[in-house]
Amino acid sequence: MKLIDYGVREDERKYIEEWAEDNNIEVKIVSDLLTPKTVELANGFDGIVAYQQLPYESSIFDKMNEYGIHVLSLRNVGVDNVPFEALKKNNIRLTNVPSYSPEAIAEYSVTGLMALLRNMKHMIRKVDKHDFKWAPDIGRELNQLTVGVAGTGRIGQAAIKIYEGFGAKVIAFDKYRNEELDKKGMYVDTLDELLKESDVVTLHLPSLGIGNTVINSSTISEMKDNAIVVNTGRGDLVNTADLFEGVASGKLYGAVLDVYENEVGVFNENLMDQDLGDKLLENMIKSPRIIVTPHIAFYTTKAVKNMATISLNSMVEELKSGKSATEIDLNK
Ligand code: COI
Repeated sequence: MKLIDYGVREDERKYIEEWAEDNNIEVKIVSDLLTPKTVELANGFDGIVAYQQLPYESSIFDKMNEYGIHVLSLRNVGVDNVPFEALKKNNIRLTNVPSYSPEAIAEYSVTGLMALLRNMKHMIRKVDKHDFKWAPDIGRELNQLTVGVAGTGRIGQAAIKIYEGFGAKVIAFDKYRNEELDKKGMYVDTLDELLKESDVVTLHLPSLGIGNTVINSSTISEMKDNAIVVNTGRGDLVNTADLFEGVASGKLYGAVLDVYENEVGVFNENLMDQDLGDKLLENMIKSPRIIVTPHIAFYTTKAVKNMATISLNSMVEELKSGKSATEIDLNK
């Protein structure tokens, strides 16, 4: 069996090399992303593993079919940049890594929220300039707040445990209820209810498709005054211009955004001293009440190792048995 792994960063390389040695399987490591051009490197291999944020172009899958490659295994969870129709047309199966470390994302969401509640962005900037005065930037305590968790999959559940540990009141919404949380009476019936009752709304949902935002001017007007939005899910869950306006107008207290609807081509790039060409992003970066980070909630040693190895294990399962536990249903 010969595999090829695309878009590999240096910090992932050692985990892939170790896996290849332990499993005695050849894995060619490529730092380039998977494109209609670079897919040519896969000719002669049995399966492709990849991770990228850019969309996977449809013609990649025509070439895979031509080379007799019928499995694409992703090292990440999100499949919103994969054209399912092109995979189906070419009889290609897709796997992802649904659970590399829910705790990594959950812990990061809470970290961002705590930083916002205690004005850390502003304070660090002040101290950098030798301004050590603390007033008037008084903090707020998490144990005084109601946290609304939207989405109670693995990440939402991990976040709930942490919020409960901090003594916050936690309420939750999900179309598919978790039995244990339901027994505890944690769920509200609608997303609207969650938005209305929460001091903090934390989004742990997948993308709902373009235009289907959870946070927008209409829902913001329903939210509590001084509420906070935390998004480590997907950028398109939020209408960012509306959110910025909500914070700028003083309706909302602030926001923590580790994902952004226009992040592709910006996040994970070094654009130091360059004009971003995105006024909204620049304004958010300037705001003391909006913490923007470049999609790093997942980025821990545990998560990166799991992404590298679980994707390869899924590939082996697919190639040996024609299926795997992490295969995505392309008809959903
Ligand atoms: C995903 O796993 O889909 C993520 O959002 C994290 C990604 C940046 C590796």
